[in-house]
Amino acid sequence: LASLNITIEEDPSLPPAQRMKVEKTYSAAGQRVKVSGWIHRIRNNKSLVFVVLRDGTGYLQAVLPGDLARAHQTSTLTLETSITLYGTITKLPEGKTAPGGVELTVDYYEIVGLAPSGEDSFTNKIAEGADPSLLLDQRHLALRGETLSAVMKVRAAFLKAVRAFYDKFGFTEVTPPCMVQTQVEGGSTLFKLDYYGEEAYLTQSSQLYLETLLASLGDVYCIQESFRAERSHTRRHLSEYTHIEAEMCFLDFDEFLTHIESLITNVVQAVVDDPIAGPLVKQLNPDFKVPQMPFMRLEYKDAIKWLNEHDIKNEEGEDFKFGDDIAEAAERKMTDTIGVPILLTRFPVEIKSFYMKRCADDPSVTESVDVLMPTVGEITGGSMRIDDTKELMEGFAREGINTDAYYWFIDQRKYGTCPHGGYGIGTERILAWLCDRFTVRDCSLYPRFSGRCKP
Ligand code: 4AD
Repeated sequence: LASLNITIEEDPSLPPAQRMKVEKTYSAAGQRVKVSGWIHRIRNNKSLVFVVLRDGTGYLQAVLPGDLARAHQTSTLTLETSITLYGTITKLPEGKTAPGGVELTVDYYEIVGLAPSGEDSFTNKIAEGADPSLLLDQRHLALRGETLSAVMKVRAAFLKAVRAFYDKFGFTEVTPPCMVQTQVEGGSTLFKLDYYGEEAYLTQSSQLYLETLLASLGDVYCIQESFRAERSHTRRHLSEYTHIEAEMCFLDFDEFLTHIESLITNVVQAVVDDPIAGPLVKQLNPDFKVPQMPFMRLEYKDAIKWLNEHDIKNEEGEDFKFGDDIAEAAERKMTDTIGVPILLTRFPVEIKSFYMKRCADDPSVTESVDVLMPTVGEITGGSMRIDDTKELMEGFAREGINTDAYYWFIDQRKYGTCPHGGYGIGTERILAWLCDRFTVRDCSLYPRFSGRCKP
């Protein structure tokens, strides 16, 4: 029973405690340490109180024995209370398991911030099975959970691996503007803003800016937020997402496709090999296997044939015909049935963007690619770009785009044009595939979609 007259004091005869993050305690057996963090779990077992402490670097099992367990103050501890624990790290005996294989035997502790109990308690706020929109209101608290925080750790390792890959191959990182006056992927998804009285937009893609940098910096990439006013709610559309984009010059379509495969396989392998992210991927997606090169290559026209052979219908409920957009549902059915990563290539001119280069052997199709992954569908879109001014102007005309605002983009063709191509990867989409999440919303810190712009 909790006793009111036990005071919690540090014994001055103990050796001084060394401040440590949880991760470091895993190799600190025998040392007296002080570790600060949040109470992730707590269990009161009469004479012993078990705490799992979380500090963002890991989880630490701690045990409060004797008087510490019986003290009244200990009985008031709640989940998410921030606390500093003092004590000695011991290696757990064979057969017992805890994170890092260690346990902290606490000899003293200090409460930093006591979290509420009752109505306002942490578990009440993010109750399991609660309405997803209530959970999104409490996203700042939900992010403390094991699953979401694991996805965010994998996300960080993934972005780190992407940068390392580009670095290895001599790409320069740049940060183009997000406030722009040009569209890249169609007018219907533009977010408009009032720019000192002029019309401007939030960027849909940094592609056009990346193209301008080839002549000064060579191959370039950026990791930047892109914005799309997507009105429909789907598993894979956000209004704001982290867009990884690269642009490369003096290469052909085949080299371009090989580069994309190589990026995906190498980066994913690096994440799986990462000491922190690797085990988290295993926990989130136990059956995950790193895809091997080369990926299956499927031309759009053969995909249309495949869809009809498998009795998958277009959006009008009819057989697919050449020129139809392969919308999300059909694309996913095809990708899930085939069950391996697919490079879907050579889309018809009419259903793709104004800047895509036509194939030399068939001008009705483009040197374009979508990378499709099982369970998610499209994670990457890219193409070789039109490098001839006249042809580019025809592309603008086809899409009904006024070219005044694009003079700087057109100039790239005028001042020493070159063959070039690039692509964009949706970070949340590739993570949904890697971490086996049902929706991209689970891979974004604070997801944005129509009707949601908070917290
Ligand atoms: O296919 P998209 O629209 O291509 C472009 O923006 C090109 N300009 C990129 C380039 O060549 N530099 O978008 C690229 C990728 C998609 O494959 C998808 O993964 C992701 O961006 N994406 C989205 N992710 C989340 N929510 C949305 N609304 C997205 N729209 C596209």
